[in-house]
Amino acid sequence: MIAKARLQRLAEEHGTPLLVIDHDELRKNIRMFRRYLPRVQPYFAVKAGADAAIVRTLFEEGASFDVASMPEFDLVYENIKKMPAKERQDWIWNKIIYANPIKPVETLAELDKYKPLVTFDNVTEIDKIARHAPHAGLVLRLKVSNTGAMVELSSKFGASPGEAVDLILEADRRGLVVEGVSFHVGSQTTNYQNYVEALNLTADIFAEAKSRGYTKMNLVDIGGGFPAPYDDTVRPFRELARVINSEIKRLFPKEIEILAEPGRFFVATAGTSVAKVIGKAVRDGKPSYYINDGVYHTYSGQIFDHCRYPVKSFRRGKTKLSAVFGPTCDALDVISMAENLPELKCDDLVYSEMIGAYAHASATTFNGFSPATVVHVNE
Ligand SMILES: Cc1ncc(COP(=O)(O)O)c(C=O)c1O
Repeated sequence: MIAKARLQRLAEEHGTPLLVIDHDELRKNIRMFRRYLPRVQPYFAVKAGADAAIVRTLFEEGASFDVASMPEFDLVYENIKKMPAKERQDWIWNKIIYANPIKPVETLAELDKYKPLVTFDNVTEIDKIARHAPHAGLVLRLKVSNTGAMVELSSKFGASPGEAVDLILEADRRGLVVEGVSFHVGSQTTNYQNYVEALNLTADIFAEAKSRGYTKMNLVDIGGGFPAPYDDTVRPFRELARVINSEIKRLFPKEIEILAEPGRFFVATAGTSVAKVIGKAVRDGKPSYYINDGVYHTYSGQIFDHCRYPVKSFRRGKTKLSAVFGPTCDALDVISMAENLPELKCDDLVYSEMIGAYAHASATTFNGFSPATVVHVNE
């Protein structure tokens, strides 16, 4: 965590609203991931924090990347371009998975020259890939249980287990190569059993594919879902890693590559926002503060990510239950109706920690207010 005095200095220097990204924290998170899951290559899910400096730091730390659009692809490719030309094809495979199961045909056509790794989960997508990106390597996205996750993804994506091998064989018939299977247990998963069930289901799909004559699969992508330590209900990462490691060891021989797509786990704790009180009132007897950042901006994760970021004061003193609102005219722009805060004045600074994932990433310019300035520290 960045020291409070430093946050205040940065706010003075750059103004507010501000989002401070601490690159030491990014490094700490990826190192922890690799230390506890040594067999798993992390493909950072760029959508969680699509920023060139974040991508660069993680690239330098040896991360690979999960991208879901061409702009995200380009952000990563900037780093790959610096590699010697003859290594680049390997780097695409080792460095990028295009993990959006639904891709516009224009994107497929653009991707094809890179011979990319792409996910799919239905027949229409097989048809599109066969026509527009026949050089791609395919990864079947499987529908798995998302019970207990903060963000549910299984109703939008994933082939059901019953149709999985049929789809693999159909892709094979169309001349495509299915390299493996991927899944996502839901974001901010604290139910570790989801990984156990998903890994066992994946092993069943491997076995069924083999029994039906398909033997080309060589990778398992265990997706994202690794929880950020937002509060003490989240058990230590090493406990989850222990569960995953033992299932992987039991189910998949060493030559099967294991990938993951952590997003939140790498960036959530690296982001701290600083905003300024721009107005105050008493509403229904409750102190109510208006700050220059809100749910259309850095706090957008409260809407899109179902997350909550407590607002904290730099001031000490007796606290009262208070409301905190964003700067726009919209009634939805409520950060909190119940925050324990000391009495604040206009121009006071407030801050929120662990706001690095899916927050600034989905900020808008609604009402003409610009997203927070991003400042990188310890780069
Ligand atoms: C395909 C895919 N991979 C990875 C992620 C990252 O998930 P998380 O931030 O939970 O690690 C997401 C998030 O939506 C996703 O859709």
